[in-house]
Amino acid sequence: MTAATAELIRKDYRLTPAQVPPTVVEDLDAAEKAALVAHIKRLLVEQDATLVAHYYTAAELQELAEATGGYVSDSLDMARFGTECTSSTLVVAGVRFMGETAKILNPEKRVLMPDLQADCSLDLGCPVDEFTAFCDQHPERSVVVYANTSAAVKARADWVATSGIALELVRHLAAQGEKLIWAPDRHLGAYVQRETGADMLLWNGACVVHEAFKADGLEKLRAAHPEAMVLVHPESPLDVIAQADLVGSTTALVKAVRELPATTFIVATDNGLFHKMQQLAPDKILLEAPIAGKGATCVSCAHCPWMAMNGLRNLAQVLESGANEIMIDEAVRERAVRPIRRLLDFARQRQQVVLGNNDA
Ligand code: 13P
Ligand code: SF4
Repeated sequence: MTAATAELIRKDYRLTPAQVPPTVVEDLDAAEKAALVAHIKRLLVEQDATLVAHYYTAAELQELAEATGGYVSDSLDMARFGTECTSSTLVVAGVRFMGETAKILNPEKRVLMPDLQADCSLDLGCPVDEFTAFCDQHPERSVVVYANTSAAVKARADWVATSGIALELVRHLAAQGEKLIWAPDRHLGAYVQRETGADMLLWNGACVVHEAFKADGLEKLRAAHPEAMVLVHPESPLDVIAQADLVGSTTALVKAVRELPATTFIVATDNGLFHKMQQLAPDKILLEAPIAGKGATCVSCAHCPWMAMNGLRNLAQVLESGANEIMIDEAVRERAVRPIRRLLDFARQRQQVVLGNNDA
């Protein structure tokens, strides 16, 4: 590590609890679920559509995607899968930036989402006009944005990064003497800055799910389970990351549970990921890392409220109606695709599988 230069911008773009919708998980009985699954399977064939789901979505959606030739993965891998699949329609069960990234990379395909209100606190905390004005004030800095941003913000960026490639990309840019703007996640930015020593100006946004993990609670849980390995997503605060045995992207955390010898893991990320972890490693014991608040007083309760907006009912509805199609202005798309392609090329050159086995 070299000398650090990190500056957090003064204005706070984090959402207040009042701006975060409640996490509402779809409630269906077994018969409704079975009927909807059968109906969606028929619609997917009729519509020449493939379902691509994020790890944080409901278990039913993940299972349906896998049972119908679709895919379950992290955000960019979902988009890459979209470029390889031959269906004319992609249905993206995830949050809006994932649907947009799929559309940016696959403009010829119809991209539908179960709910277009499925947002992300990082994306919401990075309004394009303010972000553009900020970048314009620092023309000497390269702009690196996290995948969790709108198409318009990506269009203003030089690079797009995922948690899986962020360290390597920033190390590469810093070695070339580049100074950076990093947006929107202050925690991931601070972690990357601390590890790389790069000169970074950090946008002041955060993920409402990961920001809620608490260092003091984690210390106590570790003391109660000294045998457990601690897995942390780097959108978490630095004092939580400091206690991790492994810091990584969603794919890296799944891989860790499957491959590491420990039988108990304390996991600091959205608890939707536990489904895939448990599927691949049914004998492992998974404990949720403690969060701020309990019951009615927690903001997201370790499950992203926007991911939870995806369900079997609205999935069936969009396939029936063709509603909720992602549309992106072509001029914006042409600019946004460049930093995404740059990321993919960088990863390929490094012979790193960013999309699929991405380790932070
Ligand atoms: P991935 O890019 O690893 O899928 O993570 C997306 C996300 O929203 C994490 O909170
Ligand atoms: Fe955004 Fe956080 Fe939800 Fe991921 S978990 S989509 S970063 S709000």
